[in-house]
Amino acid sequence: MKPMHELGVRVPTKRSLVIRNIKEVTKEQREHALRETEYSMFSFPADMLVLDFLSDSGTSTMTDLQWSSLFHGDEAYGRNKGYYVLLDAIRDTFERGNNPKKNINLILSGETNIEKLMDELYLASYENGFVNGGIHQLTRPNAFLVPQGRCAEYLLFSTIAPLLRKKYQEAELYIPNNGHFDTTEANISANGINPVNIFSNDLFEDFPPDQMDIRNPFKGNMETQELKSFIQEKNPDNIPLIYLTLTNNTAAGQPVSLNNIKKVNQIARKFDIPLFFDACRFAENAIFIKNFEEGYQSKTITTIIQEMFSYADGFTISFKKDGLANIGGGLFFRDKGVFHRKFSINGDIGIKLKEKQILTFGNDSYGGLSGRDIIALAVGLYEIIKEPYLNERIHQVREFARKLANNGIPVVLPAGGHAVYLNMNKFFGGSEMKIDDFGGVGLTVELIRHYGIRAAELGPFAFEWDNKTPEERKGILNFVRFAVPRNVYDSSHIDYAVAAITELYKNRDQIPKVKVSRGAKLRLRHFQSGLQPIYK
Ligand code: F0G
Repeated sequence: MKPMHELGVRVPTKRSLVIRNIKEVTKEQREHALRETEYSMFSFPADMLVLDFLSDSGTSTMTDLQWSSLFHGDEAYGRNKGYYVLLDAIRDTFERGNNPKKNINLILSGETNIEKLMDELYLASYENGFVNGGIHQLTRPNAFLVPQGRCAEYLLFSTIAPLLRKKYQEAELYIPNNGHFDTTEANISANGINPVNIFSNDLFEDFPPDQMDIRNPFKGNMETQELKSFIQEKNPDNIPLIYLTLTNNTAAGQPVSLNNIKKVNQIARKFDIPLFFDACRFAENAIFIKNFEEGYQSKTITTIIQEMFSYADGFTISFKKDGLANIGGGLFFRDKGVFHRKFSINGDIGIKLKEKQILTFGNDSYGGLSGRDIIALAVGLYEIIKEPYLNERIHQVREFARKLANNGIPVVLPAGGHAVYLNMNKFFGGSEMKIDDFGGVGLTVELIRHYGIRAAELGPFAFEWDNKTPEERKGILNFVRFAVPRNVYDSSHIDYAVAAITELYKNRDQIPKVKVSRGAKLRLRHFQSGLQPIYK
């Protein structure tokens, strides 16, 4: 008998034990709801949708182990059990490679030996990593839990900006990234610093769909030559941080190679600039490295993650990604590392961050999360690094892209880790749709109207083309994104979406231009402004 992979069939990786029925909604009802919500994707009632690809953030299914861990959630106001478990799960995930301690099992198994709990969890001392422990987390705090990723960004940039202003006064400051996500970009610019995108030059190079299983060009990389010239041109003193987003959500969810991480790290070291990761979707990034980067096939996911993070001085993260949990975020930096040294101006930077954290997101041991969220998140860190899960995950997104490509739809190839991205410049190529007609938004409106499918425009509307200078516009790509929640949809849902997108592509001359009817100047306007499609 042949094994299944020789028969070209995948071994199933999971079973569903709970389902949610989808309601029947008519096109007229959806049209009514669209009108009443100013055609804003963020305001359309989710319960009226067939499929929701607005975001993969916090929308994934938790596993049975996560659901059962909720009973261990500890709602104490100071130092709940989950706090210790989560911090140690973070050490396991990002620093311990193939030698995790899994101290979480002490709690989940109901350990009653207090000496053991004190030694291994409650009073254990750690320093020199991303998560100080025991007394060191009090004297040199470097791990900050917050409700979600943008809170970590806010905490970081609102704390460092005044310090930088004092030091550099009126100088223009820049933070380069392989692709700032919208909230990261907004948090940086709201604090008077210029966010700059340095995408990979080959992002839009054609890629044959039939090669997606065998190679990957890591189009999420940062162009390192460009980074170097940029730093030299602007002066390293005016670059407080370099950021790498893994995977690169703004650049079509493409992964970043370890080789690129290493090269960016070398540049950061050369100019003595801290290197931060936006670590949303680090696990999905790691499976691409394992499957497609030379030299990593025989490495475990955990050692790949360990190596990735060995090059970072710190990271912000949304724990809502990667299927980790429904809520949570964090900011972490290396104890006594470059960030700590450079930003401890007139006092320890960790102490300043902690003060801001307490002012805004609750005290350090819960960071605005419930004890139940914290324990489910800690369990999630061990669930999402399982290879069968990760392979199935990126395979589903790849199949979505492959089916679209086979129908002639201009989808960015190869597929990224969490979403498929349609290239709107090509989608409307040769038509009278101009970039500031927001055709991508028109497509999302029609997808809901006709088929009950929600997607997100990440292009000239979301990134505010009309409010930007010609120089800033260079950093804007023109995509519509279908983000796939983890463990929620099967191939019947993907097939429904592919059929709907294909039908709209065939009839793209009927897709309306869209006007911003209210709040065109609002920051992060795609969450708030009103829209009006213009039907011919
Ligand atoms: N960084 C990246 C790369 C992200 O994709 C996101 C969120 C954030 C930071 C902010 O995290 O939402 O927890 O505050 N991305 C979601 C998305 C919203 O749909 O792509 P958050």
